[in-house]
Amino acid sequence: MNKMRAVVLHQTKDLDYLKLDTVPIPEPAPGEVRVRIKAAALNHRDVWIVQGLYANIQLPVILGSDGAGVVDQVGKGVDPSWIGKAVMINPSLNWGRNPRAQGRDYRILGMPDNGTHAEWITIAVNQVVPKPDYLSFAEAAAIPLAGLTGYRALFTQGRLTAGETVLLTGIGGGVAALMLKMALAAGARVVVTSSSDEKIKKAVNSGAFGGANYREDGWVNHLQKLTAPQGIDLIVDSAGGDSFADLIQLINPGGRIVFFGATAGNPSRLDLRRIFWKQITLQGTTMGTEQDFYEMIRLFDTHKIKPIVDTTIPLENYRSAYERMLKGEQFGKIVLTMEDQ
Ligand SMILES: NC(=O)c1ccc[n+]([C@@H]2O[C@H](COP(=O)([O-])OP(=O)(O)OC[C@H]3O[C@@H](n4cnc5c(N)ncnc54)[C@H](OP(=O)(O)O)[C@@H]3O)[C@@H](O)[C@H]2O)c1
Repeated sequence: MNKMRAVVLHQTKDLDYLKLDTVPIPEPAPGEVRVRIKAAALNHRDVWIVQGLYANIQLPVILGSDGAGVVDQVGKGVDPSWIGKAVMINPSLNWGRNPRAQGRDYRILGMPDNGTHAEWITIAVNQVVPKPDYLSFAEAAAIPLAGLTGYRALFTQGRLTAGETVLLTGIGGGVAALMLKMALAAGARVVVTSSSDEKIKKAVNSGAFGGANYREDGWVNHLQKLTAPQGIDLIVDSAGGDSFADLIQLINPGGRIVFFGATAGNPSRLDLRRIFWKQITLQGTTMGTEQDFYEMIRLFDTHKIKPIVDTTIPLENYRSAYERMLKGEQFGKIVLTMEDQ
């Protein structure tokens, strides 16, 4: 038996070109381990790629950036004691030497490199870390890409400290839901926005101070009243679009806005005068370094943080997982499972 099942994208357009194929099980090259994947999560990136809305798409490819499983083989030069270890995969490949920004050879696992929506993967040994015991495989798979992006956004770039107030926009998103847990663990006061009152309620039940529905008129005013007199020290956003201008209104003088996505597109207007007069820092961020990844796992392990798993769906039903992501119905991560957990 040297074949495995894998979710392979053959052509960009829609889910009809995403197939569950039978392909050879990969062999680990020198310096690599082979991981028998037990669970793999979806990210918005996967559906952008399916729709052709991503730069430099190379096909065919096995999608998926997030995974957790058990090492079952090692390549030449890798310590054989890795075999049998439960691991999580760091999807941030070839960051390079400068911790401030990734280098030219930087890649995200799951295009162009074959990703985790498969039964096995081979990957460089420095891209895996032991899975903390308190996490199930599904929970561990829900963390890497979103946890790394969120950790760097909140702490490395956003410099969030205990007692500060942070606004997380679009709390239904995979990264935002993990940031909620990390920011609370760090002792921050968290407020949120969402298109759904139900999701705001869930966030409050998880420890958020409050929130506002960005689809309703007056949401900016509502958040200002809610957070007064301290206001908002840090905003982490991945929606962009025209409401980015509202964030500039909302942030405290001297505050920071960190952003890593543009789900709603580019803002059509930005008030530069307001930005410089308020002495606001606008900081872009993407994924993170190996050190960010280790620090993120340490934060999770120290506080025994559990990610919010929206649903677990068997690999063979991958299409319903992708459809759920496309429709934005989730609260937390959608996870594919390869075996009984
Ligand atoms: N640069 C990076 O390294 C990096 C890494 C990860 C993700 N990203 C990007 O970040 C974005 C989010 O990723 P994700 O995986 O968390 O996606 P996701 O799970 O699909 O979350 C998307 C969420 O965005 C929120 N949203 C949509 N339109 C909004 C708007 N106009 N205002 C405020 N919130 C809005 C919605 O929240 P509600 O349901 O609460 O309304 C939605 O659930 C995507 O654009 C993704 O490509 C970038």
